[in-house]
Amino acid sequence: MERFPPCAATLTRIDALARDTFLYRFELERPIPFRAGQFVNMAVPTAKPRPERSYSVFSDPGQPGTLGLCIKLLEGGAASEMLRVAKVGDAYSFRGPMGVFTLADDGEPVSFVATGTGIAPYHAMLAEYARRLALKEVAPRTFRLYFGVRDEGDLFLTDTLDRWAKELPDFGYEVCLSRPSASWTRPAGRVTAALAAALPVGVPPAGHFYLCGNGPMIEETKALLAERGVDRKRVHYEKYY
Ligand SMILES: Cc1cc2nc3c(=O)[nH]c(=O)nc-3n(C[C@H](O)[C@H](O)[C@H](O)COP(=O)(O)OP(=O)(O)OC[C@H]3O[C@@H](n4cnc5c(N)ncnc54)[C@H](O)[C@@H]3O)c2cc1C
Ligand SMILES: NC(=O)c1ccc[n+]([C@@H]2O[C@H](COP(=O)([O-])OP(=O)(O)OC[C@H]3O[C@@H](n4cnc5c(N)ncnc54)[C@H](OP(=O)(O)O)[C@@H]3O)[C@@H](O)[C@H]2O)c1
Repeated sequence: MERFPPCAATLTRIDALARDTFLYRFELERPIPFRAGQFVNMAVPTAKPRPERSYSVFSDPGQPGTLGLCIKLLEGGAASEMLRVAKVGDAYSFRGPMGVFTLADDGEPVSFVATGTGIAPYHAMLAEYARRLALKEVAPRTFRLYFGVRDEGDLFLTDTLDRWAKELPDFGYEVCLSRPSASWTRPAGRVTAALAAALPVGVPPAGHFYLCGNGPMIEETKALLAERGVDRKRVHYEKYY
């Protein structure tokens, strides 16, 4: 039997999040039980070299019958052009869940680093954590998020992040705009600079580091963490491209 048999799905909702970035919700024909941080493959018949594309699940794994995917549409991309004309009620097909980019269950502090839609797996992890914390199923844990995008037009999810910053016992986040408009009054710069400034010098920082998004950011962050003495086993990454 195929390890990940295709699962039919119906597109039920599309929400615009930021420039070219949308949240697509799908109702699955059967649940795909997944762990927060995992991804699914969406069938894209026109895509090469394989007729599918991978997407981290954005939605809470507590609802395995639905999938929420946060996707940035790229000019001329096979999946992007398919999704640009997507309508509620359209049929899709997914395989999964795949991947090992999931939270270590040792309760240690966690630092998340994201560029763009690389925030999707962290949304799933934090949504699950917030839900389970309210039910007293998990203990409080320290989370820090560094979220990098180019400018204000690419920024999204800040309402949810602000709510979590208020409601969760030890969650903090920093938005890093690399090319903000002239009206941006907070500091500008890449996520790598914000993380470097937050890390102690001379003492290896505690906890786990999760990196998700573009490849160059991941490579630079891995080098920074190695330089600051972080054990490789505590550095987890998911490279989108
Ligand atoms: C494990 C995994 C999880 C992923 N999760 C997500 C997700 O949650 N949301 C999401 O939007 N994308 C995600 N991606 C990227 C996604 O799989 C596709 O590559 C992306 O949607 C472009 O596909 P496309 O068919 O439209 O473009 P393609 O026809 O593949 O062409 C796009 C080109 O741009 C590059 N590229 C891919 N993604 C980006 C990007 N975001 N910015 C700039 N260049 C890019 C590719 O290398 C390729 O050369 C993930 C990738 C992986 C491997
Ligand atoms: N967002 C736009 O305005 C825009 C417009 C036209 C086309 N596009 C295209 O859309 C695609 C996605 O663009 P995107 O802006 O969403 O994603 P992106 O190019 O991955 O950039 C997201 C963030 O990652 C940063 N980054 C890039 N390399 C890094 C590194 N080595 N270390 C640390 N941070 C790094 C970027 O900073 P920098 O800004 O310093 O690179 C930016 O803040 C690209 O193909 C892009 O060319 C985007």
